[in-house]
Amino acid sequence: MPAITLVGAQWGDEGKGKATDLVGDRVDYVVRYQGGNNAGHTVVIGDQKYALHLLPSGILSPNVVPVIANGVVIDPGVLMEELAGLQARGVDTSRLLISANAHLIMPYHRALDKVSERFLGKGRIGTTGRGIGPTYADKVSRQGVRVQDMFDPKILRKKIELAIHDKNQLLTKVYNRRALEAEPIIEEYLGYAEQLRPYVADTALLLNKALDEGKTVYLEGSQGTLLDIDHGTYPFVTSSSPTSGGAAAGSGIGPTRITKVVGILKAYTTRVGSGPFPTELLDEQGEWLRKQGHEYGVTTGRDRRCGWFDAPIARYATRINGITDFFLTKLDVLTGLDRIPVCVAYEVDGVRHDEIPMTQTDFHHAKPVYEYLDGWSEDITGARSFDELPGNAQAYVRTLEEMAGAPVSAIGVGPGRDQTLELRSLV
Ligand code: GDP
Ligand code: IMO
Ligand code: MG
Repeated sequence: MPAITLVGAQWGDEGKGKATDLVGDRVDYVVRYQGGNNAGHTVVIGDQKYALHLLPSGILSPNVVPVIANGVVIDPGVLMEELAGLQARGVDTSRLLISANAHLIMPYHRALDKVSERFLGKGRIGTTGRGIGPTYADKVSRQGVRVQDMFDPKILRKKIELAIHDKNQLLTKVYNRRALEAEPIIEEYLGYAEQLRPYVADTALLLNKALDEGKTVYLEGSQGTLLDIDHGTYPFVTSSSPTSGGAAAGSGIGPTRITKVVGILKAYTTRVGSGPFPTELLDEQGEWLRKQGHEYGVTTGRDRRCGWFDAPIARYATRINGITDFFLTKLDVLTGLDRIPVCVAYEVDGVRHDEIPMTQTDFHHAKPVYEYLDGWSEDITGARSFDELPGNAQAYVRTLEEMAGAPVSAIGVGPGRDQTLELRSLV
C-alpha cells in the first residue's frame, strides 16, 4: 500500500489538521516529517477542538500510529506538555513513536531565535520564537543534539557543554544577554530522556516495514510551500522543507513509495509573519476575511494577514510538490460576496508575469492582476455533496481547479469533521 503526502499549498494554516483528521480512520500511520512546535493544526471533532503543535494530527484517531520522524525538531518540554494535555482529555497517546534521529530544540535555540529577531528590527522574519531556525542551523552545521544523545549521558554532556560555550559568546558578546549555564540544561534533558524513552524507535525502519506489510502511511506536512527553505519566499520562510520532497528525507521513506501528494489549498490566502504577499488586503475587506475565517494564529495568536486567492501560487505549489489532488478548504468563508476577485497573474513594473517572478525583488513589487468570479449568498455549511453547492460556488471551484492545474478532490465547507465534500477519496 502507498505512502501519501499532505502539503500546505500556500503560506500555512490551510487546514492541514482537518484534512489529516478526515482520513484518520483510513490510514495506519500519520507522520510529521519536518518543522516543530511552530505549527498549529486545528482539529474539530463534534464540540471538541484540539490545537496540535508538535504531535501529528493522527494522534486523535484511535487506530493510527502517530510518528514524529527524523526531520522534525523536538522541544521535549513542549512535547511532554502536549502529551499531558491530550491525556487529560482522555486521548490515548501510548502509540506515539519518536525517531531517535530527530533533533532537539534547546533553551539556547529559543533564546537565539528571540534575540536575533529583536536585532533584525523592521527586517525581522516574524518567527514563532520557538527556536526552530537556530535548531535547524545547528543540525546543518553538525552541532545539533539528537533524541538518541539523551540516552548517552556522557555524549549529552559533551555536546551541551560545547554548544553552550559557543552560544554564550553569541548571547553575551553580540546580543548583550546573560550567559546560560550548562548544568541545569544537562539535568533537564537527562530528565526528559526517561520520560521519552518508551516512545523512541527506529521510525524509518518501522515505516518501511509497515509499507512492506501493505499498511498506509500518511505524511503530514506542516507550514506550507511558500514557507519552504528552498522554494518559499526566502528569507521569509521557515527553516525546513515542508514541500513533498522533504517528506522522503524527513521520514526515511523512499520517494518511489509515495504515490499521492495532496495539496491543502485555502479558497483565499493568508500569511503569518513578514514577507511578500501580493494579494494582501490592508483594508476593510482584509478585516472582513479575517473575521469570517477566524484568521488568528493557533500558535502565536497573531492576526493572520488575509488576501484573495492567488492562482500563480497554487500552480507553483502543484509544480514544486507534484500535487495529484487538492483539498480546497474554507469555501464557506467566501459566502456573501457579490463577486470574488482571483489573482490570475502579476504586474511588475508594467510587465505581466503569469507565474511567480524569478527574483524575490520582483515578487516584492508584484501587483495582482484580478479576474472577478460571481459570488453566492446561500449558506453552504450544510452541503454534503458537490451538487448541493450553488452554481456560482461550483463554478468558483472549477475555475480554481483549472488555474491550479490539479483536480480538487475535497472541499471544506466548515471546520467540523463532517463539513467536507469528498469528490474522490483522498487516500
Ligand atoms: P493548519 O495549520 O493547516 O492545520 O490550519 P490551522 O488549524 O492553523 O487553521 C485552519 C483553521 O480553519 C482552523 O481553525 C480550522 O478549524 C478551520 N477550518 C479548516 N477547514 C475549514 C473549512 O473548510 N471551513 C471553515 N470555516 N474553517 C475551516
Ligand atoms: P502550520 O503548520 C503559518 C511562519 C512564521 C514566520 C516563518 C518562520 O500551522 O501551517 P519559524 O518560527 O518557523 O522560524 O517562523 O514561518 N510559520 C507559520 N505560518 N503556519 C505555520 O504552521 C507556520 N509555522 C511557521 O509566522 O513567518
Ligand atoms: Mg496552523
